[in-house]
Amino acid sequence: MASIRVAPEQGLGRINPNIYGHFAEHLGACIYEGVWVGEDSSIPNTRGLRNDVIAALRSLAPPVIRWPGGCFADDYHWRDGIGPREERPRRINLWWGGDIETNHFGTHEFIELCRQTGAQPYIVGNVGSGTPGEMRNWIEYCNFDGDSTLARERAANGATEPFDVRYWGVGNENWGCGGNMDPEDYAAAYRQFATYLGGFGGPEPFLIACGPRGNDVDWTLRFFEKLGHRPRSRIDAFAPHYYARSAAAQGGADAWLAETGSATEYDAGQWYAQLHLGLQMEALVLQQRAAMDSFDPERRIGMIVDEWGTWHPPTPGRHPRHLWQQNTMRDAVVAASTLDIFNRHADKVVMANIAQTVNVLQAMVLTAGDRMLVTPTGHVYAMYRAHQGGQSLHTRFESEGLGYNFRGEAQEMPALAGSASLKGEELTLSVVNCSASDEIEAEISLVDASAREVALTRLAGPGIHAHNRFEAPNLVRPQTQSLDVNGVAWTQSFAPASVNVLRILL
Ligand code: AHR
Repeated sequence: MASIRVAPEQGLGRINPNIYGHFAEHLGACIYEGVWVGEDSSIPNTRGLRNDVIAALRSLAPPVIRWPGGCFADDYHWRDGIGPREERPRRINLWWGGDIETNHFGTHEFIELCRQTGAQPYIVGNVGSGTPGEMRNWIEYCNFDGDSTLARERAANGATEPFDVRYWGVGNENWGCGGNMDPEDYAAAYRQFATYLGGFGGPEPFLIACGPRGNDVDWTLRFFEKLGHRPRSRIDAFAPHYYARSAAAQGGADAWLAETGSATEYDAGQWYAQLHLGLQMEALVLQQRAAMDSFDPERRIGMIVDEWGTWHPPTPGRHPRHLWQQNTMRDAVVAASTLDIFNRHADKVVMANIAQTVNVLQAMVLTAGDRMLVTPTGHVYAMYRAHQGGQSLHTRFESEGLGYNFRGEAQEMPALAGSASLKGEELTLSVVNCSASDEIEAEISLVDASAREVALTRLAGPGIHAHNRFEAPNLVRPQTQSLDVNGVAWTQSFAPASVNVLRILL
């Protein structure tokens, strides 16, 4: 039998709630239709933001939302998105299908989104095609509490009080769509930008530097080497991006489909291949943090994974640059396994932002006109919100290995994995059963603690392809039951391909 041992006395560090962060880009139907419908829409809305999506997002307790991109950020000029909406310029969205960007959703609308969902704003500035002055002015416009021209302009646009935006990204993927830079170029640009991004009164902006594509340790070492230690080049965090996307994608849709299948059609081998890609996040966290530690042994600079998620081949019938994809139990298992990795490394990861919140890649919510559904991934976020801010606990999972082949090599992943956290007397234990076919029984035991009450919330099938459709929006949803358990140990069975959260009162 498998076993799970949790030690409530052995804390690994506080789980930063921001690990449960989101990312919303001007891409496909993420912003327009996904959250913004405009005040005149027949879709019920509050100040232009659709009520159904806001309510769904609120229930996930998003701690932070990153915006406006993504690649979009380095071609975005914030002044386009302020002032009377009908006067805002229409631009071409260079990266995402050449769509016309009306700029109806700009800084004030983003702040409103954050207020309605209860999230903190995280704004990404434009390094690739912008200037330090443009970004500096954006911060002053948002945050200055005094009587400057930019603060007056903000007030004239309806916001007398500053927005107090704390998180600022200095560019996005500057090795690619953010300017095609090598790490030395970017370090020099970062230094120059950072010189001007403080001193507006109030709390200093928390500055986030772009990290590498995936787990490219060389990029990280070269960036920090070049950055050096200069008094005015503040850096608060460094952010690698990692997508669970088959490298076969480079070889075209057929090779990609062969390796991981489509978003909704895959066999058991492709199920494990996709999970395998997701699990590479653990190596990234360890190796990127180790590279950062060699320059920052006291960990003053936080590690953020501000884009991550599953990325499937383009969905037939959809614009390939809109990155719309369905979301099944396979995505839910990747989401849960990744959040468990972040929880277990609470001492290393200070924020993470799943890509993306609505209608793009691994979304929480999908919309079609006035209809909306919560995806299995969205349900995982609701189930895991109990971990936010908890003390991550030492756990030991022992289970049989699941064998599979990945690119011609025999591999194995543990059938059960998870994480645990403690808030007062409430222990949250999340357990993922990665097996595509087998129910697994495990003995759960608590070290030096005893359970008074246990409730299990389970997200599972029917089947490994289970997903919600607009015609059947609640096919996959969490089910909660109280367990007749008290004491220090008990046996629990976990359905195949399932995500489980136990709330244990000690
Ligand atoms: O999330 C979609 C895109 O993926 C983002 O715009 C970019 O930063 C990344 O490559």
